Formats: sequence, C-alpha cells, structure tokens
Amino acid sequence: MSKSEPVTRRTMLKSILAGAGVAAASAFIPRCFAAVGGAKIKLGLMLPYTGTYASLGKNIDDALRLAIAERGGRLGGREVDYVVVDDESEPAKGAENANKLVARDKVDFLIGTVHSGVAMAMVKVATDNDTMLIIPNAGAAAATGAACAPNIFRTSFTNWQPGFAMGKVMVGRGQKRAVSVSWDYAAGRESMGGFKEGFTSGGGNVEKELVLAFPQVEFQAILTEIAAIKPQFVYTFFAGAGAVKFVKDYAAAGLKNSIPLVGAGFLTDGTLQAQGDAAQGLETTLHYADGLNLPKDNAFRAAFKKAANRDADVYAVQGYDAGQLLAAGLGTVKGDTSARKEIIAAMEKAEIDSPRGKFTLSKAHNPVQDIYLRKVTGLENRFVSVAVKALADPARGCKLV
Ligand code: PHB
Repeated sequence: MSKSEPVTRRTMLKSILAGAGVAAASAFIPRCFAAVGGAKIKLGLMLPYTGTYASLGKNIDDALRLAIAERGGRLGGREVDYVVVDDESEPAKGAENANKLVARDKVDFLIGTVHSGVAMAMVKVATDNDTMLIIPNAGAAAATGAACAPNIFRTSFTNWQPGFAMGKVMVGRGQKRAVSVSWDYAAGRESMGGFKEGFTSGGGNVEKELVLAFPQVEFQAILTEIAAIKPQFVYTFFAGAGAVKFVKDYAAAGLKNSIPLVGAGFLTDGTLQAQGDAAQGLETTLHYADGLNLPKDNAFRAAFKKAANRDADVYAVQGYDAGQLLAAGLGTVKGDTSARKEIIAAMEKAEIDSPRGKFTLSKAHNPVQDIYLRKVTGLENRFVSVAVKALADPARGCKLV
C-alpha cells in the first residue's frame, strides 16, 4: 500500500494480509488501547552527532535513554521508539530536520537540541504544528522568553543564568574591569549579556565584547587584543571542541597567569581530559558541579558510566532530566499522548529529582535552579559554593509569565 493511498477497511485488510499493515493498522488503534501499550511512543531526537558539539549531543542521547531504560524502557506504560536526526549544529538545516520528524515520522515529542540557533528553528516548527518540545541544552532566551508556549519545555538553563551568576561573583570580589569573549551567535551574545547584567549591577564595567563566528577557532587576533586591553579578567562562553582549543590557546599565549579566565561552566565541562594543564584552576559557574555528593547524583554517575562507558557531565544530566520530565508527564496520563492538557499540567508542576539537585520549572518552563561556582582541580569541576540560589531567568517577553 502506498503512503498516499487512503486507508479504507478493505485496503487495510489487504495490507495486513500482505504482512505490511503494521504502520497503517496503528492508525486505527483506539485511544484507550494505545494508552495501555499497543503503540509505541515516538521520540524524535534532534541532536548534533557530528561537529564541534558532537560529544554534547551524544551524552544527552545516552542519558535520555538511560532515564527511560531505568523505567523498563517505557513511558507511562508504553514502549518507546526513537527516531534520530543529526542536526550538525547547522541552523540553516534546522527547520527541515525538525519538519521531517514532525510531518514524516509523526513523533509524539521533539527532543533537542544543543545549539541555540537550531533550537529556535525547532521552536518555530513545534509552535506551528503544536508539537511537544523538550530542549535538553540550548539556552536561547526566546525559547522560554518571547517565543514561550505551553508545549515548549527546557530541562537545561538559559544562556543568561550562568553568565549573570558569574557577573555577581566577580563584582562581589571587587573586580571592576572585564573583557568578554565568545562566538557571535545567540548563546555567546546572551551569555555575555547575562554576565554584563550581573557585573554592572554591582558597579563593574565590561570594556569590550570580542566575538568570532561560530564555530571558528582562530583565536590569535582576539588573544592579542586581550593582551593589549589588559582587563582584570576575561569572561567567556565557549563549549565543546571550541572550548578545548580556547583554553589551550589562552594558556599558550601566556595570559593564564596574568589575566584570569572565567566563564560559563561549559568552558570546562566534558573537556578537561583534552584541556589538561591549561584548565587547572579555572573558575566557572554552572547548574552542575563535581563533588555535589547528592545520593541522586552519585547513583546517576555510576549508572551513566556503566551504560555509556564515559563520565557524566552537565549535558548528560540535562538529557537524563528530559527523560525524567517525560516520565512525569506521561506517567500521569498512563501514556495517553492525546491527553495534552494533563501532560502539560503534570510537567509544569513536576519537581525533578535531578543529579544537579532538585529543581522546578518557572511559568515560562525553564529550570529555577542553583548556580554553582566551581574550580578545576585535576579532572574535576569541583564545587566551591552556591553562586546564586534558585536563580530564575527573567523570561523577558514571555506571555505565560
Ligand atoms: C547554545 O547554543 O545555546 C549552547 C551550546 C553549547 C553549550 C551551551 C549552550 O554548551
């Protein structure tokens, strides 16, 4: 039976007899049957599996599956099917990739992604089609700000959150003159914006914001400029392979000891092995840290290591929590994906027992969470202190707030 042929009782029978009717027949499964486990719940994973953010995407994927495997491979009693797309952290392909998952694969939930520009393409597709979306990393402000919507959730952070916290930490230390450095796209701009807001609120001044295009890693001109400006310290947002190179180049340029480098914690999360000595002593702010010593975190780290044969990091935590949020929503309705209002209500009021510490969601559907100050010691981002407690993104422009 071709995809476009209308499904009648006769064509359905014919296709079942032909042994090819599973997909067509599933369209006829009544709601109550689907809810008790007839059809699988389809999750569309749109993540980077290649490029600068490949390791981030992989950890999100593995940890999301871990959370579901811990529930017997089921959500709300129904088995789960995964449809996976490599988004390559390429915003230009974002809409097409997301549309495939929604229109062709008919996924029940879109899950993704890492890169803010790609995530905003997913937000548009989810909004246009009224598809449920959970963002397990990308911090784009608009997703839980101007473009917020009942069907859009995030289990990670906004770019503003770690930046704002670091601004507060540095101004609290009496620092006055900073330079910021990042990639020139939403994540970098918003991270530097959050930092600036925190830093200037206490009288600090950002003398210059230096940027280069994503995902470029030719940092020499920027390092030369930093050396010429001589700020008291440098704030930065980089992640993945770009963060590895920036930290190494900064040390190699001889700046590490004269102009301290701080940043949003992505700078040193999941990257320490590759950064080696160049990262030692760096301080960053993030909603996760090593040495939290929470029972949930200890159990998660052991389970992730066993499942993925890698150490957990912030990305794994966010993917795991996307799985936990799905379980909270679908558990309430026993897997009945048509009970949309109830799913959303359950997700909105969930208290997620995250490895990072428990968190709830704001009215805009972004985590309200402690932001930790951490310091690199060996291969760990050791917990130092809580930089800002229960920090909520301002959710500017969100009409749900
Ligand atoms: C983003 O694009 O929002 C982004 C990417 C990588 C990170 C954090 C944020 O580690």
